[in-house]
Amino acid sequence: MKTRKLGEITVSEVGMGCMAFSHGYGKMPSEQYSIEAIQNAYAYGCTFFDTAEIYSPNLSGIGHNERIVGKALHDVRGNVVIGTKLFLSSAEVRREGSVYGAVRRHLEGSLDRLQTDYTDIYYLHRTSGGVRIEEVAETMGRLVEEELIRGWGLSQVDVIDRAQQVTPLSAIQNIYSMVERDMEQAVIPYCMEHNIGVVPFSPIASGLLSGKITTDTKFERNDDVRNWVPQLSRQNIAANQPIVDLLGRYAKQKDATSAQISLAWMLHKYPNVVPIPGSKNKDRIVENLNAAQVELTTEEFESLEESLNQCRVYGHRGFTR
Ligand SMILES: NC(=O)c1ccc[n+]([C@@H]2O[C@H](COP(=O)([O-])OP(=O)(O)OC[C@H]3O[C@@H](n4cnc5c(N)ncnc54)[C@H](OP(=O)(O)O)[C@@H]3O)[C@@H](O)[C@H]2O)c1
Repeated sequence: MKTRKLGEITVSEVGMGCMAFSHGYGKMPSEQYSIEAIQNAYAYGCTFFDTAEIYSPNLSGIGHNERIVGKALHDVRGNVVIGTKLFLSSAEVRREGSVYGAVRRHLEGSLDRLQTDYTDIYYLHRTSGGVRIEEVAETMGRLVEEELIRGWGLSQVDVIDRAQQVTPLSAIQNIYSMVERDMEQAVIPYCMEHNIGVVPFSPIASGLLSGKITTDTKFERNDDVRNWVPQLSRQNIAANQPIVDLLGRYAKQKDATSAQISLAWMLHKYPNVVPIPGSKNKDRIVENLNAAQVELTTEEFESLEESLNQCRVYGHRGFTR
């Protein structure tokens, strides 16, 4: 697969979000299936894998997902880029005596579960109330020097410039898709200017843009984010149908799937974007990786963009959740 840069870190053009093997989309597959799915993605050319310490059933534990990713990629560790994330509280900073001490404790836990000596991108998962971002950035710089991380990033944190000035960032991981375009206003232009990669999460809008969700689709009761994703209320699924239809038309024209067109759209639009679609299904994971093969011509992209701009989006998740 073609590659792109997140700062100085080279990754496959499409990455893989591993969260759903542990949290967020209902029943989890078996550990064996999850490991095979990750290894299968690697065999298809994916070299970028996304996890977080908090991805565990119902977000009630730590490390379920990191353990799976660690087991799956142990034998090919040197060939892949792993991004993981931490939450940080001011209480633990006080307890550990410093931001560095607190972050390092989180990192050591992640490295142990990932069966590795370093992680490639270490993200602050959300703003940490009471902890200055400059201190987090300074800590990340020190961890880079210690070769415990290769680079760092922010996820849904809105003080990028203050962080960047202390220790240059490798990536910003925020929500971004054809129906969540806030990042286009300031974040992506800033990242382009400063050589920072953009890693969109929920790039298929939690399944909406695949065209496979209808008003009859029943989401699962337990640990399924689709119950509150705003574009996926029954009313908004119906209201967003013009966007789904638009994708369907391009999919037909390009002999691709709607999910692939939605990913190809962002790949065409920005050279520093590397989406991390998530799926619990081996075939759909490969389908999503193959979006890298779907080339939109300038003309196709422009007419798709123009049509998209004419559609109103119903439901907005934005920055908070
Ligand atoms: N930083 C953060 O705060 C944050 C937040 C959320 C997620 N993330 C990361 O981003 C990754 C992706 O996010 P996400 O899983 O919410 O994104 P997503 O890929 O937009 O949505 C996943 C949903 O779409 C379905 N889907 C995916 N590809 C499909 C296809 N080709 N055809 C039909 N349905 C398809 C999946 O169903 P199936 O499983 O049935 O295929 C699943 O229900 C996560 O794995 C995680 O690593 C980060």
